[in-house]
Amino acid sequence: MKKNKQKSTNITPIIADFTSASISYRQKFGGGIKQDIAKAVGIKSGIRPDIIDATAGLGIDSFILASLGSKITLIERSQKIHNLLADGMKKASGVGGRTAEIISRMKLIHGDAIELLPTLSTNVIYLDPMHPPRNNSALVKSKMRQMRSIVGEDSDHIELITTALNSICDRVTLKWPSQSPLPSVLPKCSHKILGKSIRFDIFIKSN
Ligand SMILES: C[S@@+](CC[C@H](N)C(=O)[O-])C[C@H]1O[C@@H](n2cnc3c(N)ncnc32)[C@H](O)[C@@H]1O
Repeated sequence: MKKNKQKSTNITPIIADFTSASISYRQKFGGGIKQDIAKAVGIKSGIRPDIIDATAGLGIDSFILASLGSKITLIERSQKIHNLLADGMKKASGVGGRTAEIISRMKLIHGDAIELLPTLSTNVIYLDPMHPPRNNSALVKSKMRQMRSIVGEDSDHIELITTALNSICDRVTLKWPSQSPLPSVLPKCSHKILGKSIRFDIFIKSN
């Protein structure tokens, strides 16, 4: 008798896991201070800027930057994502060793960066709002789809970017899909770092 093949619909729920194999692989082989994200925030030999990650999400980008030696303040406004991130950071601290040392450079705040940024100052503000959905949904990873179902579209991203540009910092770094133009209401960036699917738009502030 033929068995009915059923497609599995199991989706692994998202968590913030700083002890996963992919994170440790990225730490070992990601390129260190030569990787695009490091250059985009101005990390270079002997320079480790303080960074506010105003769109913390599950903290992957922050963890990479903290692993390179920067101190990061993470801001996340979704209560659910904040709780997942806080939980992941607590577990990673408990592991001890280098992982805990990296986490010790990360400070998580629950709140809306649009309200908080004007009260803070730092070297770099890093932004990675939910990007405009792509037409080809097959390209959108399952994790990102789950994030979107929790936090929505971040439709106030222009207000967030404008707030960051008006805040006290030396640089604003925006992570954005490489093929999507910046909304025309925003000023031109100082320079870009172009990757395969994403790019970093860097705004150097003259203050
Ligand atoms: C694409 S995810 C960020 C992913 C993150 N870079 C990472 O490595 O995991 C965007 C996150 O920014 C958060 N966010 C968007 N606008 C925000 C704001 N104004 N204040 C705080 N968090 C915000 C969303 O709730 C969402 O969790």
